Amino acid sequence: MDLKTQVLVTGASRGIGLAVSRAFAVAGARVWVCARPSSALDDAVASLSGLGGKARPLPGDLTGEGMDALLEPVSRQGRLDVLVHNVGDVGPFAPFMEGGDRVWRDSLEINLMAAVRLTRLALPLLRASAGGRILFIGSTGARRPTGRWPHYSAAKAALLNFSQSLAVELAPEGITVNTVSPGPVWTQSWEREAAELAARESIPVAGVRQRLRNGAAARVPLGRIGEPEDVAGICLFLASPAASWITGADIPVDGGLGLASP
Ligand SMILES: NC(=O)c1ccc[n+]([C@@H]2O[C@H](COP(=O)([O-])OP(=O)(O)OC[C@H]3O[C@@H](n4cnc5c(N)ncnc54)[C@H](OP(=O)(O)O)[C@@H]3O)[C@@H](O)[C@H]2O)c1
Repeated sequence: MDLKTQVLVTGASRGIGLAVSRAFAVAGARVWVCARPSSALDDAVASLSGLGGKARPLPGDLTGEGMDALLEPVSRQGRLDVLVHNVGDVGPFAPFMEGGDRVWRDSLEINLMAAVRLTRLALPLLRASAGGRILFIGSTGARRPTGRWPHYSAAKAALLNFSQSLAVELAPEGITVNTVSPGPVWTQSWEREAAELAARESIPVAGVRQRLRNGAAARVPLGRIGEPEDVAGICLFLASPAASWITGADIPVDGGLGLASP
């Protein structure tokens, strides 16, 4: 990969998206780092500068319909080679009867519609590349729901189905579309859950954090919760020439969780 390889990573200011951006920057790509405008986004871009490639901020909110101008800075470069659409959100910890329509609509908006609209905007730029790549970050919950966050699992299942429809439609143009589906990976969304549970149970957050980490590790055959960097390598591979005959795949990155009995 070189500085001419244009990569766009969404949800890139922290967590999995930042780790994926770092891997592409180290590999020498020009990385567009997308998240809502914040000091976290500026810090992320600063942390990626000087790693080998180049990082540029692409501030924007991927929910709602006001995204039309988002990719203008990328368009000025003439093309996009790799889109890693990583934005997603598990939403509130809500069993089915606690999550009303609003929870479901919000989940479909951030986990599915953001991908639909961004892909619509990015496709003309990917078509201008010699071999465009689309990667969606899904979730093991799409195929293996846990009984928590039903809105999220359903939305990620829809994202996977969308990814595979696109893979079929775009194959004749040589554009590959794949999904990478992480199992539990310790990021800010887990920190948020730990804080919510600690407040609900009126106990210190440190204990809840440890309980969540241990609980996840106990379910995973490889015996530990994932870290954001665990997801980055497969993204780099799927964007590389070595993966030019892989499309429509859904690759689990879950420490073997998919093998374990429910
Ligand atoms: N962590 C896990 O255990 C796990 C497991 C399976 C799948 N996943 C999936 O992996 C992906 C990344 O998860 P993560 O845990 O790394 O998430 P995270 O730490 O919560 O980070 C989410 C990223 O998305 C950005 N973002 C959120 N809402 C946005 C919006 N409306 N517009 C633009 N950017 C937005 C955030 O930045 P701002 O808030 O500053 O905009 C941040 O950069 C998600 O699709 C998630 O569903 C995660």
